[in-house]
Amino acid sequence: MTQSPGTLGPDPTNVLLRHVNVPGQHDIDTYVANGGYAAVHRALKEMNPDEVVAAVDGSQLRGRGGAGFPTGRKWKFINRNAPVKYLVVNADESEPGTFKDRTLLEGDPNLLVEGIILTSYALGVRNAFVYLRGEYYDCHRLLGGAIRQAYERGLLGERILGTDFSLDLVVHPGAGAYIAGEETALLESLEGRRAMPRLKPPYFPAVMGLYNKPTVLNNVETLCCVPWILNHGAEWWMQQGPPQLYSVSGHVQNPGVVEAPLGTTLRDLIDRAGGLRPGRTFKACYPGGSSSRPLVAEHIDVAMNHESLAKLGSMMGSGAVIIMDDTTDMVKVIARVAEFYMEESCGKCTPCREGTRWVVQVLERILHGHGRPSDLDLLTHLSKNMTGTCFCPLGESVPPSLNAGLAHFRNEFEAYIARSNAAVPMPVRIKESVPVAGS
Ligand SMILES: Cc1cc2nc3c(=O)[nH]c(=O)nc-3n(C[C@H](O)[C@H](O)[C@H](O)COP(=O)(O)O)c2cc1C
Ligand code: SF4
Repeated sequence: MTQSPGTLGPDPTNVLLRHVNVPGQHDIDTYVANGGYAAVHRALKEMNPDEVVAAVDGSQLRGRGGAGFPTGRKWKFINRNAPVKYLVVNADESEPGTFKDRTLLEGDPNLLVEGIILTSYALGVRNAFVYLRGEYYDCHRLLGGAIRQAYERGLLGERILGTDFSLDLVVHPGAGAYIAGEETALLESLEGRRAMPRLKPPYFPAVMGLYNKPTVLNNVETLCCVPWILNHGAEWWMQQGPPQLYSVSGHVQNPGVVEAPLGTTLRDLIDRAGGLRPGRTFKACYPGGSSSRPLVAEHIDVAMNHESLAKLGSMMGSGAVIIMDDTTDMVKVIARVAEFYMEESCGKCTPCREGTRWVVQVLERILHGHGRPSDLDLLTHLSKNMTGTCFCPLGESVPPSLNAGLAHFRNEFEAYIARSNAAVPMPVRIKESVPVAGS
């Protein structure tokens, strides 16, 4: 169901969002009264670390940060005999359209702290970090309060609950760069350098991560699933769907975070978010954030899971579903998306740094009445040259939009070009920009 701010109290139709609207849920006493920290008590007293790993592995939980990698398998990569290893939580959440981690952090911050404690116990981690999006001030305050209370209750710090297990947890706010969400760039930033991706190999985080030590990186939502899996078991978890958060935005009547079984249809998600605006029809949607290939009307009944979306050449990403109705100008949307990635490119490699800029310049001249018939071939050429040539996935974020736009909405590009008029003054910003290929 949609997480609606108007309803106060536990919502039994949800799992991950069950308590986000409970007044005072950020306080440890309310959290405990609602069943919180039961999994930590049980795991530390009745389970060994291998059993915790096995439970998560058996649940087939897949990472919720974008790549959908199986969490249990990722945990098993770590050399648990290594004397020093780290857990880093990716709370950078900056992909346009994604806001589900924020909902969890603001509504139920103790759930993340509990997930971190359980994961650290499973992996033998002594120090964990949360890399938090810099603009998430409220999340910082609420998560900081939850961590402080966990220390006061002996759930963090030395010899947790009287066992041999100790854990310190630090929150590190970022400084507003989207690329810092890419796991190796995040580690650079956490170590105090500019967020630029590292070369893999050798810098696979499981082997050479934070301070060159074995490191597990997981998304906020991924770790919020862990207490539920340990409390109820892997089978129960799968019977629930498994529960998946989708950030649904754009042209729906009730945008917000929707919890639904993984693989629910796109049509169902739109319905759960209140449906389209009255009198409007569905035109397109980004199913997994603005770097996924947009879907169109013929895909309305697709199952929103990793496999079905991959078959369509798109992806699940972080579950950010951006709905666009028939009022949408696709050329403007694609130009805006390309501009975002141009701004956020770290500048390390040419196809991304120059390619995104060229795409923006060509789209802007089309939008401003100076497009040429050859521009569509030029965009195709740019898209091809940016695919498979970039150092990290950010550089390949624009081609999916361009390719789908040119395949499904070519007439909209052509209509702009047909209306081109050399007499219309070109905005100075475009005129003075670096000349683009074909100009
Ligand atoms: C450009 C870029 C930005 C990313 N931003 C985030 C982010 O904000 N949060 C996140 O959890 N993962 C993000 N990821 C994915 C991470 O690199 C990584 O796969 C994820 O944090 C692993 O956690 P998971 O296995 O729990 O999904 C990003 C990836 C790329 C390429
Ligand atoms: S693809 Fe873009 S963001 Fe990634 S390393 Fe290259 S320039 Fe930086």
